[in-house]
Amino acid sequence: MTDKNKLGFETVALDDEASALVIIDQTRLPNERSILRLATQKEIWDAIYLLQVRGAPAIGVAAAYGIYLAAKEIDTTDYDVFAKKFAEARDYLNSARPTAVNLSWALSRMGKIVEVGSGEGVETIKKRLLAESRAIQAEDIEMCRMIGEHGLSLLKPGMGLLTHCNAGQLATSRYGTATAPMYLGHERGYGFRIFCDETRPLLQGARLTAYELSEAGMDVTLLCDGMAASAMRNGWVDAVFTGADRVAANGDAANKIGTFPLAIAAKRFGVPFYICAPSSTIDLNTSTGKDIKIEQRPAEEVTTMWYKERMAPESIKVFNPAFDVTDADLITAIITEKGVLRPPFTESLQKHT
Ligand code: MRU
Repeated sequence: MTDKNKLGFETVALDDEASALVIIDQTRLPNERSILRLATQKEIWDAIYLLQVRGAPAIGVAAAYGIYLAAKEIDTTDYDVFAKKFAEARDYLNSARPTAVNLSWALSRMGKIVEVGSGEGVETIKKRLLAESRAIQAEDIEMCRMIGEHGLSLLKPGMGLLTHCNAGQLATSRYGTATAPMYLGHERGYGFRIFCDETRPLLQGARLTAYELSEAGMDVTLLCDGMAASAMRNGWVDAVFTGADRVAANGDAANKIGTFPLAIAAKRFGVPFYICAPSSTIDLNTSTGKDIKIEQRPAEEVTTMWYKERMAPESIKVFNPAFDVTDADLITAIITEKGVLRPPFTESLQKHT
C-alpha cells in the first residue's frame, strides 16, 4: 500500500524540539481541523479521556509519546528518583481509559526501558525512551499495512463491507485496522461499497469513518446503528470488519458499543464477521471477555451531546458503556499483522504470539 498519509495530517505525532504531543482534535472533526499541541501530562490525560485522541492503537502511540515527554521533564541524575517519578507518570496516564489494552501495553513497553536501564545514566534512558516511542509508532504503521494485505485476501471486487465506530487512520497512525483492507482495495480498484454505522453515542462512524473514507474517494453509505441488520437482510453486506480494543485469550473481543449486536445480526444472515487487531491489542493475560473492564461514560453523552437541546427527560437513568464484548463464537476470523486467525482462537492466538 502506498505510504501516503491518507488525510494530510497525522493522527498523533511528537514534536520533540518543542516537547509537545501533537494531535488532531477528533472531537472537532469533520467540520474543523484543529491541531492541538499538548505539553503537560494533564493535557495528555484529558485528550485521551475526552477522546480528542482515540482508537486503541492511537491511544497507545499517544501514551508512548506522552510518557517519553514526562520522562524528559524529570530533572534528576539519580536513577531511583527518576524511576519513581516515571512510575507515577505512567500510572497517571494509564488511568485515562480502562478498556483499550494498547494504553497499558505501550506504557509497560516504555517501562521496561527504564527497568533494564538501571545501570545506565538517566540521559541515556531518556534517549532510549524516545527511540522506543518512535518504534511503537513505526510498528503500528507496519502492522496496519499488513492487516490490510491479509484482510484484502478475503475479499472480492464489488463487495459490500460494513464497519462500526472508527478503526481507521484516525484510530491508528496510518491505514487503520478494519479500514486497511478497504484502503488497499480502493487503491487496487476493488470498488467496494462501504456501509458505515454512525455509532451512537459519540458518532465516531459518522464523524470520523464516513469522513476519512469519503475523503479517500470511497463509496460510503452512512447508517444509524439500528439499520445495519436491515442492510444485511437486503443482501448489501458481504462482510463486516471492525476493530477491537482488547482481544482476550479465548478470542472474545471488546470493541465500541454496538459491535456485539452487529455480530449477532451477521450470524443470522450468514455474513462473515472479522475483527482486525494488531498484536498490541491482543491480551493473553485476560482469559475471556468477562475479565475485560468496560468503560462507563457520562450520561450527557446520550441525553444531550450533539443535540441543540436536551433530548431526554431531566432525571432519566442512563446506561452508557463505551464498549461491548463480542463472543468468540460469533467471530469468523481475527485478522492481525501476522495473518488470518481462525477458531479455535484459544489455539490460534497462542500460536500467534
Ligand atoms: O471510544 P473509542 O472511539 O476510542 O473506541 C474506538 C473503538 O472502539 C475502535 O473500534 C477500536 O479502538 C479499534 S481502533 C483500530
